Amino acid sequence: MNVSLNEKIPNNVDVGGDKALQRALERWQPEFLDWWSDMGPDGSKGYEVYLRTAVSVEKGGWAHFDFVRMPEYRWGIFLEPARAGRSVGFGEHRGEPAWQEVPGEYRGNLRRIIVTQGDTEPASVEQQRHLGMTCPSLYDLRNLFQVNVEEGRHLWAMVYLLHRYFGRDGREEAQALLERRSGDRDNPRILEAFNEPTPDWMSLFMFTFFTDRDGKFQLCALAESGFDPLARTARFMLTEEAHHMFVGVTGVARILERTCQVMAKERTDSPERLRALGVIDLPTVQRYLNFHFSVTLDLFGSELSSNAATYYTTGLKGRYEEEKLDDDHRLKDAVYPVLAFEEGRLVTREAPALNALNEKLRDDYIKDTASGIARWNRVMEKHGIEFRLAVPHKGFHRRIGALAGAHISPDGRLLSREAWQARADEWLPSAADRAFVQSLMGRVVEPGRFANWIAPPERGIHGMPLDFEYVRFD
Ligand SMILES: [Fe+2]
Ligand SMILES: [Fe+2]
Repeated sequence: MNVSLNEKIPNNVDVGGDKALQRALERWQPEFLDWWSDMGPDGSKGYEVYLRTAVSVEKGGWAHFDFVRMPEYRWGIFLEPARAGRSVGFGEHRGEPAWQEVPGEYRGNLRRIIVTQGDTEPASVEQQRHLGMTCPSLYDLRNLFQVNVEEGRHLWAMVYLLHRYFGRDGREEAQALLERRSGDRDNPRILEAFNEPTPDWMSLFMFTFFTDRDGKFQLCALAESGFDPLARTARFMLTEEAHHMFVGVTGVARILERTCQVMAKERTDSPERLRALGVIDLPTVQRYLNFHFSVTLDLFGSELSSNAATYYTTGLKGRYEEEKLDDDHRLKDAVYPVLAFEEGRLVTREAPALNALNEKLRDDYIKDTASGIARWNRVMEKHGIEFRLAVPHKGFHRRIGALAGAHISPDGRLLSREAWQARADEWLPSAADRAFVQSLMGRVVEPGRFANWIAPPERGIHGMPLDFEYVRFD
């Protein structure tokens, strides 16, 4: 596969061979840069950042590390190589050759899937744009910027598909992706979790652990798509997504490590005392976890969805690890258990599996969070501290789907609205919690130094030492 790195837009899809496409993308590029300058990392224009850049799609060798001024980052278009003879793996077209062009009858649905995915990418950059001002270290600042430029590249990935395969309406959608704004009253981002602010670094680590993991599951489902260019794009995006979740899992682990050190040294678990010592008490970590977990579960959509059934039946969006599942991959008569809230009770109902695909993806996601939670709990175990983190019940604090009307505690009990509300501050970050976490946020930019509320990581980036100057300011 030819990789053109020296063109204006680095790519491995022969953009130069399609002059109309090249012109359209080269018109979009300065608009993207304007958006980056307005809505990308605040005040970062002159910084040189030690970043990895995707330069090929070879396993193990695709990333190049060097100092880059972020607006000069080489946002490229990279698709995994085509697999010869690939066929559609599920739905009513199972076994037919995968599509290299958009099937006319599925055009609207495919465009909607691509736009919805594409919209989350710039949204998270907007949500995180002020965090650089309060970074706990240069190492963390660099990681934040790495995530941001790669979300920018993911936007490019979706915009390429829109320009290349969807003609004029694709170009209009690509434009609109630069116009919506996270949290904007009049023109918000499409999905609710992407309109929530990410006001502090605890929120960032929870977001990259939970919400970027939703990204992983959506991309895994798209990596199965019968529309081959989408599948190949999603597969390459997944290689980048892994680092985003790494930032989250290690970030929270380092917060816990620091808190546990202070708890062990001072022999206290009093939140007031720990806060006075400048670290984040464990119940507060649990409340942030509850918030980000529940908000992210909503991203998977309603338990029962005829759209999800259509996307599957028509071969557009598969299940997580579709190929590893041992069934007929059509699901016409299959059923799936779904939690429902009926007449004031929680009941499990067998639903048609095709309609319950959102719920299945959500369940796969919940399973996937377990290893991260276990890793966090090992920190407490190591320090001989009894406290354990846990994900709340999947009906807790839901705003979308069948459980949205129910008032469910983190341990899964059904409560009255009043009883639930009375305890909300025990379960979700209160205004006081948020103000406290915010009060810890300062800017630490001396190489090798870390803010008091977070432990240093185990190792640096790409073999560099912890006191490496990961970001150079002008
Ligand atoms: Fe992304
Ligand atoms: Fe991501």
